[in-house]
Amino acid sequence: MLDKIQKILDEVAAWQPKDSKELEEIRIKYLSKKGSISALFNDFREVSNDQKKVVGMKLNQLKDTAQDRLNELKAALDTRQTAQEDLDFSRSAYPLPLGTRHPLSIVRNEIVRIFQNIGFTIAEGPEIEDDWHVFSSLNFAPEHPARDMQDTFFIEQHPDIILRTHTSSVQSRVMEKTQPPIRIICPGRVYRNEAISYRAHCFFHQVEALYVDKGVSYADLLQTLEYFSKEMFGSQTKIRLRPSYFPFTEPSAELDITCNICGGKGCAFCKNTGWVEILGCGMVDPNVLENCGIDSKVYSGFALGMGVERITNLKYQVKDLRMFSENDVRFLGEFQSAY
Ligand code: DAH
Repeated sequence: MLDKIQKILDEVAAWQPKDSKELEEIRIKYLSKKGSISALFNDFREVSNDQKKVVGMKLNQLKDTAQDRLNELKAALDTRQTAQEDLDFSRSAYPLPLGTRHPLSIVRNEIVRIFQNIGFTIAEGPEIEDDWHVFSSLNFAPEHPARDMQDTFFIEQHPDIILRTHTSSVQSRVMEKTQPPIRIICPGRVYRNEAISYRAHCFFHQVEALYVDKGVSYADLLQTLEYFSKEMFGSQTKIRLRPSYFPFTEPSAELDITCNICGGKGCAFCKNTGWVEILGCGMVDPNVLENCGIDSKVYSGFALGMGVERITNLKYQVKDLRMFSENDVRFLGEFQSAY
């Protein structure tokens, strides 16, 4: 009897059903009423009285072991089965809501990348500025009407502290601290006291570029403008310069490119001229260099500044400036970018 019990115990340890059908077969073979373990209980009657205690104990142990093992195997098969049922390879993937970069960030990054490729490095300055860095150091004389070109936000009771109206202020900050060669690109937010409409906002974004070294000439500026325009808007882009005025550059110019939207044929965006203005530029006025502690007899430079919103409008034809700050995800979601 004890030998039979041991034999079945060994078999129980070796049970390895592949699926619930085999498991059920095992249960019937061993634990059903006609199963081999139940049969042993029938045989138990014939066991002599002095053996009954030991054999009975072993028999009960066998039954428990077999039942435990059966439960264990059933649980394992059940989990395997649910896991398999969950794996439906034909099912489409869960949609992952991916964020998108803000169009202004995409364009700013693109502008910065184009200038970084020719050796410019990023410089930044504060948005709350003083009069010196925004105006005086840049050759805006006190009471000069050019100060009115940009409607300034002043901090109450502190007429010297203002919100910067352009990123040109970063030029003077960098020049005060660094001797040439200087080759910087300065992206940032600027503020002007303007009524908000589809084409004006009280804050917007600019990128300023400044290059100061020995022998920097107008030809360098021109080459840089042509390189930038073609990188940004495509190699078919043509450029033209119109004379202009800025207090901090002499001579000054505004850069037009062939209209990116109609390809130069004439459309509503370029007011049928085929050209659109994209930035202001010029040779750094020697006064500005001197104001910032750079010897204008040794060094010269060029500067340029552009509005990120304007470049973005041209690239993506966004007609209403206010869209950029309304945080409407339907609008923002339309812009996909690797940068
Ligand atoms: N700061 C000018 C503006 O906000 C843009 C500008 C014009 C920047 C000419 C320059 C420049 O560096 O040379 O309208």
